[in-house]
Amino acid sequence: MKLYGVVGDPIAHSLSPLLHNYAFDELDIAAHYQPFHIKNDQLAAFVTACRTLDIQGWNVTIPHKQTIVQHLDRLDPLCEAIGAVNTVVKVREEYVGYNTDGVGFLKGLEEVRKVNTGDRVLIIGAGGAAKAILYTLHDAGIRQVDVYNRTAGNAQNLLQESPFSHSGEVLAYEEGIVDCTMYDLVVQTTSVGMYPHINVSPIEAHFREGSCVVDIIYTPFETKLLTAARNQGCCVQNGIPMFVHQARLAFSLWTEADAPIEAWKRLITNQLGGTATC
Ligand code: ATR
Repeated sequence: MKLYGVVGDPIAHSLSPLLHNYAFDELDIAAHYQPFHIKNDQLAAFVTACRTLDIQGWNVTIPHKQTIVQHLDRLDPLCEAIGAVNTVVKVREEYVGYNTDGVGFLKGLEEVRKVNTGDRVLIIGAGGAAKAILYTLHDAGIRQVDVYNRTAGNAQNLLQESPFSHSGEVLAYEEGIVDCTMYDLVVQTTSVGMYPHINVSPIEAHFREGSCVVDIIYTPFETKLLTAARNQGCCVQNGIPMFVHQARLAFSLWTEADAPIEAWKRLITNQLGGTATC
């Protein structure tokens, strides 16, 4: 029996054990996926315990995505650029860090829309999720990615620190309705609008009909921002595709098998008590 898991604080809410244990069962893989509730000062001991127990890999979530780096043996290049890990894989005797959040986002997006290098993109937010998505878009050759954030300095730092060539700009934070009609794709990465504060939105915007708006939140299934975008004729997507695709990529790094992502989407939807996905 191989052992995998997810490390974070808190961790009880994580849907990852449900997904990975379902996939192990479905694919007849002798493995188990365990949530590990680990506080900051326990992280080094956790990784030592993983080595002792021969744990084959694990996911990393808040607050350990950056601090885990110092405890690993090496990082995949995109993960190294992002500076945050969401997946660890045992390769021979080494623990190697990956970040599947950004590529998970891209794969999820490709379910509804092909991505072109000439796309004009706006990212809302400048935290860890924004960074993973921005760097993955840059890495994929998309140069025109602007950032809109409450604190302009954080958006400036995010763009300036990117090691990829790009020509994005920081949009000044504005009260009122922001003109987003020049964008082919808008990606909302902050926690604004997440349950229980579902009546707020990080931006009131005019979108272009036919453009695509993604909110990486999935509680609620449709945020206030997504409802507004849908009412303006946009193609909208919530955070479930990104979540299942980042998990699919981790699962395939560990097992080289294809995860049952359509079943995963149904599991998540049922678990969250809803019937609708975007
Ligand atoms: P994560 O790592 O999950 O992406 P994070 O690093 O805490 O989360 O990033 C949070 C992002 O959400 C930031 O861009 C933050 O804006 P600031 O840079 O101004 O802090 C944004 N954010 C959080 N709460 C917000 C709010 N109430 N209104 C607007 N933006 C908010």
